[in-house]
Amino acid sequence: KRFHKFLEIKDILPDDARKVIVEDFERLKILGEGRGPSSADYSVFINHVDFFLSLPWNKENEQEKSIENVKNKLDDDIAGQDSVKQRIGDYIAPKMLNPKGRAGILCFVGPPGVGKTYFGASIAQALNRKFIRMSLGGVSDEAEIRGHRRTYIGALPGKVLQYIKQCESKNPVFVFDEIDKMERSSRGDPSAALLEVLDPEQNHSFTDHYLDAGFDLSQVFFICTANVEHDIPPALRDRMDIIRLPGYLETEKLEIAKKFLVPKALVEVGLTQNDVKVIFPDEVILKIIREYTREAGVRDLARRITQISRKNAGKFLQHGGSIKSIQMNPETVESFLGPPKHRREDAKLTGVGVAIGLAWTPYGGEILRVQSRFFPAVKKDEFTFSQTGLQKEVMLEANKAALTIVRNKTGQKEEDTWLKSIHLHIPEGAIPKDGPSAGITTLCSLYSLFTRKIAKPFLAMTGEIDLEENILPIGGVKEKVIAAMRAGIKEVMLPSGNEPDLHDVPKEIKDSLKFIFVSTVDEALNVVFGKENKEPSPVS
Ligand SMILES: Nc1ncnc2c1ncn2[C@@H]1O[C@H](COP(=O)(O)OP(=O)(O)OP(=O)(O)O)[C@@H](O)[C@H]1O
Ligand SMILES: [Mg+2]
Repeated sequence: KRFHKFLEIKDILPDDARKVIVEDFERLKILGEGRGPSSADYSVFINHVDFFLSLPWNKENEQEKSIENVKNKLDDDIAGQDSVKQRIGDYIAPKMLNPKGRAGILCFVGPPGVGKTYFGASIAQALNRKFIRMSLGGVSDEAEIRGHRRTYIGALPGKVLQYIKQCESKNPVFVFDEIDKMERSSRGDPSAALLEVLDPEQNHSFTDHYLDAGFDLSQVFFICTANVEHDIPPALRDRMDIIRLPGYLETEKLEIAKKFLVPKALVEVGLTQNDVKVIFPDEVILKIIREYTREAGVRDLARRITQISRKNAGKFLQHGGSIKSIQMNPETVESFLGPPKHRREDAKLTGVGVAIGLAWTPYGGEILRVQSRFFPAVKKDEFTFSQTGLQKEVMLEANKAALTIVRNKTGQKEEDTWLKSIHLHIPEGAIPKDGPSAGITTLCSLYSLFTRKIAKPFLAMTGEIDLEENILPIGGVKEKVIAAMRAGIKEVMLPSGNEPDLHDVPKEIKDSLKFIFVSTVDEALNVVFGKENKEPSPVS
């Protein structure tokens, strides 16, 4: 039976592969004549032959031919994200014109819950290809990707070919999730193996150690996803087309909830099937977004909506299944979900020693309050600069630069502050923070502490500083301004060098936030503390 199958596919096999399987059959023949089918060697070869023959050497799904259909399907599945859809379209079109052409590698980068994996599945569906998802988080053994050599006891093929075998098609959409979370270990470097899988120059004949023959992966549509672009192994990053998904605005979340999350949740809990109409007005969804979630994506939002829907299903059953519609309002939300989890009112106000910064995290942008206070020195003549809130090295260094500048500007000498050591804290204390981009925020916090001037409220800032008092450009502008808007900030101060980044900031944000660009510390202090900041009042 196996030999018959081999004869069926013999002609389409690449030469090297044919040689391998023919040798297998020859070995089986010899082994069969010797100790017989019970020997261990025999089963090793049989397993190999079975795996070999079960691979989809020539099976592929016929891809959707109309780009219009693909676009429509993506529109049906994905709310908003027009520029991402546009880029996906640009990517797919050449592939339709030349199906044998080399498939490139797309990589979606962005915070959790923004739809990276979900878009992969939507693309597969729109193209009528099979869908495979493999998580690389924590993978540290290259054999997981490329398999073990056959001589190894208990050898297995790598996961890539195992998945290809399962989906029975050689042109699926294959999503590698969390490509930024692979680890290098004593068992090899999985990113090197992955390069052989992904690289269009090599993957027309990808050699799994177990299979021992090249398999053509060039028709696979590879998509990678990552939270942090910087953590993608450089050799891979070089070959990728990176598409950044920075996180959603409130209006976009509202649209996603109305179009997808609410209907999905109602089906999931069985209300739609029982003809109950559950009415979620916009104000209810917005309340959930604002007071029960704090995220760049929509995963928590989806969870909260499902939670409410479950309670509604319970209510429906309690009434013996007789109600026809359930109207949600903000009060019912509180009764179902408990008191609001996030109140952001105080995030925008300032006081002595406080400045509001903007930070980039793998989970999206965040508002950051930099706080500083004097405290009595432990020993006379011993100044301490105590910095807490899990600040890491680069940040600590930026803080030192900020302190030096503030000392120069306010004419404070170290001796003057001997009795007053400084404590600089950044909540939330459990989240590690690093990077130079809070430099200007720390500086404003210290300046406020030294001069007792209060920073302008509703203004958030970001920017690296140097000792020449320049303000240098930083990364993650889009994420940061989305977070500012989410928190109710009115003005954002950015380094002049970041002005070009405003180009891809959504119009909605540009219309409602005021942007101020500065390139020197003096300019920044003018913006934050008003024009008269030159004369420091004495430290009390
Ligand atoms: N634009 C969108 N339109 C419709 N649904 C969306 C959209 N964006 C996200 N979603 C919903 O959000 C859910 C979570 O997305 P997904 O699991 O793809 O996140 P992810 O970006 O892969 O996150 P992670 O980095 O944690 O893996 C999806 O199942 C989908 O229901
Ligand atoms: Mg994902």
